[in-house]
Formats: sequence, structure tokens, C-alpha cells
Amino acid sequence: MRRTAQRVGAALLAATAVAAIAWPVYGRQAFLDCLKILAPLGVSTAVVAEVLASQRAWLGGLRRQLSAVALLGAVQLAVGVALFANLMFVSRHDAFFMALIAGYAGLVGLAAAALVARRVVADVDAVRGALVKVGEGSRDVQIAVAGGDELATLAADVETMVDKVARAERARRELVAAVSHDLRTPVTTLQLVAEGLEDGIFEPERTREKLGLISTHVRALGALIDDLLEFSRLEAGDVHWSTEHVQLGELLEETVEAMRPQADRDGVAVRAEIAGETAAAQANPEQLQRVLFNLIQNAIRHTPADGSVVVRAESVAGRAVEVEVADTGEGIAEGDRDRVFEPFAQGASRSGRSDGAAGLGLAIARAIVEAHGGRIWLADAPAGTRVRFTLPSS
Ligand SMILES: Nc1ncnc2c1ncn2[C@@H]1O[C@H](COP(=O)(O)OP(=O)(O)OP(=O)(O)O)[C@@H](O)[C@H]1O
Ligand SMILES: [Mg+2]
Repeated sequence: MRRTAQRVGAALLAATAVAAIAWPVYGRQAFLDCLKILAPLGVSTAVVAEVLASQRAWLGGLRRQLSAVALLGAVQLAVGVALFANLMFVSRHDAFFMALIAGYAGLVGLAAAALVARRVVADVDAVRGALVKVGEGSRDVQIAVAGGDELATLAADVETMVDKVARAERARRELVAAVSHDLRTPVTTLQLVAEGLEDGIFEPERTREKLGLISTHVRALGALIDDLLEFSRLEAGDVHWSTEHVQLGELLEETVEAMRPQADRDGVAVRAEIAGETAAAQANPEQLQRVLFNLIQNAIRHTPADGSVVVRAESVAGRAVEVEVADTGEGIAEGDRDRVFEPFAQGASRSGRSDGAAGLGLAIARAIVEAHGGRIWLADAPAGTRVRFTLPSS
């Protein structure tokens, strides 16, 4: 109701402004006469337009809605002409021709509205048809719309959305295939060894060795399942940890010490550079350590003996801290750089999945960093690999 009153007020204001144009040219009486015609026209148009807008559903499809607007325009024109003829004492002859012109203008307006409506409805139908196809499972959708208006934007948005859905579905399929593969290989080995044990085909001294093999595979399977569960929880945004003030210098030292036995075994020197001793992050220490473990483990794994791994942290612009794990290893091939953070993505240098690496480490690291509001990326490195990530500073 308030909106209608506002529109009526605006229509009256516009009528006064337009009628005022006549005042300096034909005087005050002309202004009043003009206002007598424009004011009722403006008010009735505002009220009827408001009713049409609020009763759109009752009017029916877009074609009928646009025709109704055109009809409103034609009726207003006819009423305007009638009021003008009456108030200005126009002769019957002139009034007759004015009525003819008004009628013709109304008809032309209706035809124009029908034409525009047909095009609009065709574009709407194109978008609707595409959505129906998507619902039926099609993902190769091209929507041909004629205009460059909001409907064209809508069509482009729908195409982008379908593309995203298709990519997500593909990623999910690949994930399932990779998971099945990673589960299949150890399970097949386990099955063969178990059958061999059952049939007693192994020498007694080899039985112990086979039991060791079973336990290695079972551990690897358990770790893979844990990683998968963790990854799917993180992906679903199921994050229940709290964050606290974490002194990065201490945490880096502690993590590097925990990884030292593995590095020593592989002949790789590992150290934390505490230039960022004062750097502190707002993070969950266990999760942050998990990210660092994954990155350092990768770095050690891909660095030959006598190489080195360095972990650094620094504050950037007072708002964030940047942590880097740099190694002097084989580096990541150009073609793999874009996808190493995807689950199950493994570089070309990998000979297979036999060493128990599933390809989830970086995907988990990315999910954890992003859940903290940071980002992770491969920084440029002249040699070796540099993985960097940011965290909000504390
Ligand atoms: N520091 C690195 N140097 C060279 N290649 C790396 C490095 N870090 C990661 N990569 C490449 O990125 C791939 C993905 O790493 P990610 O940590 O996600 O999986 P993974 O180490 O193979 O398996 P997981 O971490 O599950 O044990 C690796 O297989 C490897 O090809
Ligand atoms: Mg890894």
C-alpha cells in the first residue's frame, strides 16, 4: 500500500513537472488544463501498473504480461486523447482523427509487445530446455539465446554451473576409481598370502615373513582409510578444531625433530630456519603439524641422499604468516604442478603406488590450510621444490 502511494506521488510529481513546461509558453491556464489531463492519467497508470505487477501470476505467461502492459499504454493514450479533446474544445473532426491515431498507436504497441514477448519467451524456453536436459543427465549443454540481456547472462551462468557440476562429477568418478585401485592392490596381495597360509604352501620359516607382509599391508590400508576419512571430512567442511596462538619457531623445531629419524635414514639433512621465530599464527597446532609432516615427508621422499630440506616461517605484512618447505630434490614436473594438490594426483616420477603413498598428502594439506583461511601453492624454485602456505597471523 505504501509502495502504491509512493508511485502515485511520483506520478503526480511527474505530471506537475511536465505540465509546468506549458506555463512559460501558454500561461497559467494552460498549465492547469494540462495538469487536469496528466494527473488522472498518471495516477490511474500508477495504480493499474501496481495491480498488474502484483498479479503477474494471475495474468499468465510472459506474452500475456507484456501484452497487458502494452494494452495499458494504449488505453492511457486513448483516455489522454479523449480528455484533451474535451478540455481543449477540439472540434469533432479533429477529435475523430486523434482517436484514429491513438487507436492505431495502441495496435502497433500491442504488436510490438507481442514481438518482444515472443523473443523473450523463446530465450526462456531455451534455458528451460537446457535445464530439463541437465536433469535428465546430459552435461553437454549449449544454450542458444538471441539477446545480450539478463536472459543471456542467465544462460551463461547455467552453462558455467553445468560445467562445474560435470567437473565435480568427473573428479568424484576419478576419486572412486583411484580409491578402488589403491584398495584393490593390497587386498589382492593379502588374499593371496592368506590363501597360501591357509593351504600351508609356505615353508615354516617363510610363514613369519608372510605374516610380516600381511601386517605391512594392513597398516598401509588402515592409513589409507584414515586419510580418506579425514579428507572427505575436510572436504565436507566438517571441521571441529579450535585455533590458538601458535609460536611457529617452536612448532617448526619440534616437527623437524620428529622427522629427523626418517631424514637421517635417507641421508637427507633437515632443518628449521627460525628467521620467523617471532612469527605466530592463529591455528590448530595438531592440524598445522599434520600439514608440515605431509610436506616434509614429501620433501624427504623426493630428495636424494646428501640433499637438504629447509622449513621456514615469516610474517608478511603483519596480517599473515608464510611457511615454506623447500628441498633440493627432483622438483615437480611442469605438467604436474597444477594437479598435485588434487586427491590421488601423483607426479610422473612416481613408479607406482607400491611405496604406500596414496597421493592424499597435499590434498589434505590444502584442505587444512584452506579451513584455516589460508592458501597453499608451489612457489617458483630454481631447483627442487618449494611448497608455501599462508595462515592468519596471531
Ligand atoms: N617435495 C616434492 N618433490 C617432488 N615431488 C613432489 C613433492 N611433493 C609432492 N610431490 C609430487 O606430488 C605428488 C602428490 O603428493 P602427495 O603428498 O599429495 O601424495 P603422495 O606423497 O604421493 O602420497 P601420500 O602423501 O598420500 O603418502 C607426489 O606423488 C609427487 O609426485
Ligand atoms: Mg605425500
